Amino acid sequence: MSSVAFRRLEKSYGSFQIVKGIDLDIADREFVVLVGPSGCGKSTTLRMLAGLEDISGGEILIGEKVVNRLPPRERDIAMVFQDYALYPHKTVFENMAFSLRVRRMPADEIKMRIAQTAEMLGIGQLLERRPGQLSGGQRQRVAMGRAIVRRPAVFLFDEPLSNLDAKLRGQVRGEIKRLHQTIGTTIIYVTHDQVEAMTLADRIVLLRAGEIEQVGTPDEIYNRPASMFVGGFIGSPAMNFCRAHIAGDAIRLDGGASFPVHGAAVGASTALDGREIVLGIRPEHFQIGGDGPSVSGIVQVVEPLGSDTLIHFSSGSATLTARVPPQLRPVPGETMTIGVDPTRIHLFDAASERALH
Ligand SMILES: Nc1ncnc2c1ncn2[C@@H]1O[C@H](COP(=O)(O)OP(=O)(O)OP(=O)(O)O)[C@@H](O)[C@H]1O
Ligand SMILES: [Mg+2]
Repeated sequence: MSSVAFRRLEKSYGSFQIVKGIDLDIADREFVVLVGPSGCGKSTTLRMLAGLEDISGGEILIGEKVVNRLPPRERDIAMVFQDYALYPHKTVFENMAFSLRVRRMPADEIKMRIAQTAEMLGIGQLLERRPGQLSGGQRQRVAMGRAIVRRPAVFLFDEPLSNLDAKLRGQVRGEIKRLHQTIGTTIIYVTHDQVEAMTLADRIVLLRAGEIEQVGTPDEIYNRPASMFVGGFIGSPAMNFCRAHIAGDAIRLDGGASFPVHGAAVGASTALDGREIVLGIRPEHFQIGGDGPSVSGIVQVVEPLGSDTLIHFSSGSATLTARVPPQLRPVPGETMTIGVDPTRIHLFDAASERALH
């Protein structure tokens, strides 16, 4: 059991700075998910914490202890990699036993831990097989099992589900969540899948180009994105953005529509008069009917998903996406008007792209 902290953590390769001074406190038993686009420094951050990569500046603490120069095996951390990194010539049992043998654990204890863990993961019947004789999902479980038997203070996962098909992904995701509830260890989990981030995390850390863009609970990140980047990254389909400006007590979209400035959305609208802004609206926050503000546009593409339907329509210069009930099936080319829930709109400064609160 352990907390983790980064203090101005930096990593450079030559003159190229990859991680640019990250400050983060992760509580004991917390499940923290690092998300962000490809190349933003997620794996690098995890590898520095595991001790697989030197740091270029700052500090890493595990518990109260600065571990900057501690070799990986003295950090009490277990890491599960995207490609599982199992030993191909060892059986499942031997894969799981390896790190325990290195630590000179008595054979009885090793057997007991592996039996317990294998049962928890439902791989008890696979212990004599080799990785090549397992499915992707089974290999993934073995990789987790190998980490769990060590009973580390901190688990690190680097995109552990990205090699699995969609259905298995959902299943193993549930297992990881259950695992955390059962053993309660601190988990730091890297993904670029925002569904994994939303469903697993106590807190999400959104990284952008080596810096923290926002830290918050999944609810905070979804409901109060700090920037257009966060608004656009979390949520699927992505948040719609329309250029707009504030005129008196109204928000005027460049496409023509006009919204009353809602108290919750903009505190001091007078200070913002004339300001160029961007209005963000999630596809699921359009509404059919109601007498609130609305936008009109021309239907471009209709995608029925069964549970609901996505309508892509053009309004002014913007192309917007709305998620609507499945019975609604407009035809491409048709003009449509759709309501917007004024309490669910997001306003951003057009220049800085930061949220206006
Ligand atoms: N050994 C290295 N030498 C030089 N640059 C590197 C090295 N390792 C990683 N990088 C660069 O560091 C940046 C961050 O890489 P990192 O693997 O941390 O990204 P990531 O966020 O995990 O991305 P992905 O989602 O694609 O896995 C990338 O631009 C990468 O090219
Ligand atoms: Mg990576």
